[in-house]
Amino acid sequence: MPRKPIVAGNWKMYKTIPEAVALGNTLRSGASGILDREVVVAPPFTALAAVAKTLEGSGIALSGQNTCWENEGAYTGEISPIMLKDVGCRYVIIGHSERRHIFGERDETIARKIKAALDAGLQPIFCIGETLEERETGETLAVLRRQVKEGLKLIQGADMNKVVIAYEPVWAIGTGKTATNEQAQEAHSFIRTLLEELFEKNIASDLRILYGGSVKAGNVDGLMAQPDIDGVLVGGASLEADSFLRIIKFER
Ligand code: 13P
Repeated sequence: MPRKPIVAGNWKMYKTIPEAVALGNTLRSGASGILDREVVVAPPFTALAAVAKTLEGSGIALSGQNTCWENEGAYTGEISPIMLKDVGCRYVIIGHSERRHIFGERDETIARKIKAALDAGLQPIFCIGETLEERETGETLAVLRRQVKEGLKLIQGADMNKVVIAYEPVWAIGTGKTATNEQAQEAHSFIRTLLEELFEKNIASDLRILYGGSVKAGNVDGLMAQPDIDGVLVGGASLEADSFLRIIKFER
């Protein structure tokens, strides 16, 4: 079964509600009629409800940027997976490198978040990736192995068809330094082989692995031409309709 590509925009901590609605509206008209790829946007929590309304019936899916591992309780400041489902999300980004490195998220909590998201009927976009230091000391594949094994340790094979993985080398995020097509393909192919080892061959071959890190209109086609790259997770270039629409319309 061919893997349907995903183009996802992570808006991070940008956009007020009116700005988010305006971007949603432009994307809605610019991406109408696109059926051979999935388009996903992840606005900040405060704009989710308004963007959900803006995108209703458009085919563009909504994602959270993070979730708690519990559905409710005394967790001041947290948002739960059932709340994300309730506001209209289909996806949720989990384990983004900014969560790991700025907010100290660990493999252990990421594993619980992925499980909770799946239990609530959300599809996790599970982020992994090495730092520059880890790449330079030759640890990239060992880091990816640890993150994948630990992050997915609570997940049964049957749920794996809902999981999306995003490989985002930390040194490529927001730096303008994209991984070369070959570096990205090498990591993606390693991740797929690892999934085969941990789960089953058909799970590994059906699972979508996105690339993230300074994806732009100018490099998306080359990345998407790689056999194991099934989509992109875009930060900065997803904040403007023109650049994101160009990325959505990548050519293979
Ligand atoms: P940039 O596209 O701004 O490098 O961000 C990538 C990213 O972190 C997406 O989640």
